[in-house]
Amino acid sequence: MPFPAGFLFGAAVSAHQVEGDNANSDWWYFEQENAPRWAKRDRHTHYGQEALSPEAWARFGPEIQNPATYLSGRSADHYNRYEEDIKLAAKLGLNTFRFSIEWARIEPEPGLYDEEAIAHYADVVRSCRKHGLEPFVTLWHFTLPVWAGRMGGWANPTVIERYVAYATLMADRLADEVKFLGTMNEPWVYVQLGYVYGVWPHHGRAPQRQIHTVSRNLIKAHTRAYEEIKRAHPHLQVGVSLDAGHYSVKRSTMLLLSWLVARFTKRFGYEYFLRGMAKASDWLGLQYYIHYKVAGTRLVSEPGPHSDLGWGLYPRGHYRLLRRFARYGKPLYITESGLADADDTHRAWYIRETLGYVERALDEGIDVRGYMHWSLLDNFEWDKGFWPRFGLYEVDFKTFERKARPSTAIYTAIIKAGTAREEGDLRQPRIRPGT
Ligand code: BGC
Repeated sequence: MPFPAGFLFGAAVSAHQVEGDNANSDWWYFEQENAPRWAKRDRHTHYGQEALSPEAWARFGPEIQNPATYLSGRSADHYNRYEEDIKLAAKLGLNTFRFSIEWARIEPEPGLYDEEAIAHYADVVRSCRKHGLEPFVTLWHFTLPVWAGRMGGWANPTVIERYVAYATLMADRLADEVKFLGTMNEPWVYVQLGYVYGVWPHHGRAPQRQIHTVSRNLIKAHTRAYEEIKRAHPHLQVGVSLDAGHYSVKRSTMLLLSWLVARFTKRFGYEYFLRGMAKASDWLGLQYYIHYKVAGTRLVSEPGPHSDLGWGLYPRGHYRLLRRFARYGKPLYITESGLADADDTHRAWYIRETLGYVERALDEGIDVRGYMHWSLLDNFEWDKGFWPRFGLYEVDFKTFERKARPSTAIYTAIIKAGTAREEGDLRQPRIRPGT
């Protein structure tokens, strides 16, 4: 069986994206302020990404231009329906569930911890165990308590100390029932969108002038939390989830320039965080979504399948990035991988191909120990709101009804078979995109 015993197959969610309903979180206000502006987008304004295809615009344009799309509300009401959702995950044959704890719920005022909220997340953990799922817990996934934002967010060293206190507290409370803790999710995405482009929450003025401080502080916060948690609970496996884009160079007359741009983008992007965080980590989480081709100084996409968001789908990128992450000598988990695909056109193909490439990495001796699909549920996709549909389960945001998308059958079949390969598989796509 190519997937070793104990390999974790899972799905992931993050607190704000499925819970919403949180007036203590900075994102809650950020949405209200920005919804009218986001609703004025046309098909060409998709920050950091390419334009939407005319087909995607025809399909999603009305939702994109409706301000209500950008208000998280109760989102998928996962805060109340977590037990049902965990059962749905178990029903697919999964053995792990990755979720995040909302710091703003645990510590609504500095130093004031909400015991009810702590008990809530302890129940989520218990429910995972009850249904045979290993809880894979992330302590910070993009949202800050409002007070931490007012203090200047991650630019302020006091926020690091408060975060470390919160992280250690949660580790103390969950240590008996949890094995895996992630300190944070995709610090580079947070810095890029908040401080480089300035389109996500950034606290304080002149975001671009804080890029370095915030990046350095995130690394410090991770390292300090790791040290404190390990000191108290050496058995916990503490790591971090990092995003990485996959870049390849377009063969053209600008080959050298393209190569330099790709190198620079990687080095000062995700590799900066890998270098800074890998040492103080028991495991590393890879999160890869987008494939870019570099042509001179431009990032372009290739022909071929794209998600509803216009992101180039290139499953082989997982394999290439796993090799790159493996250089740091830590066990690896794919803690997110997925696509916005409302009609479920490419998901089955994408899951099978991705897991096929994970098997190839395993064949080569790379220590990959798990794969968690993003996402278990359709959810609130930050500044894009509700229209991009990432869920294995489709969610009706009015009735909160959940419905399995057809591609879940493929995921379950792969888990049962213990392999994504079919006979004669030479790692070529077997299912054509679109089938
Ligand atoms: C984030 C998720 C997000 C997903 C799809 C990742 O960058 O961790 O919060 O929903 O990508 O955009």
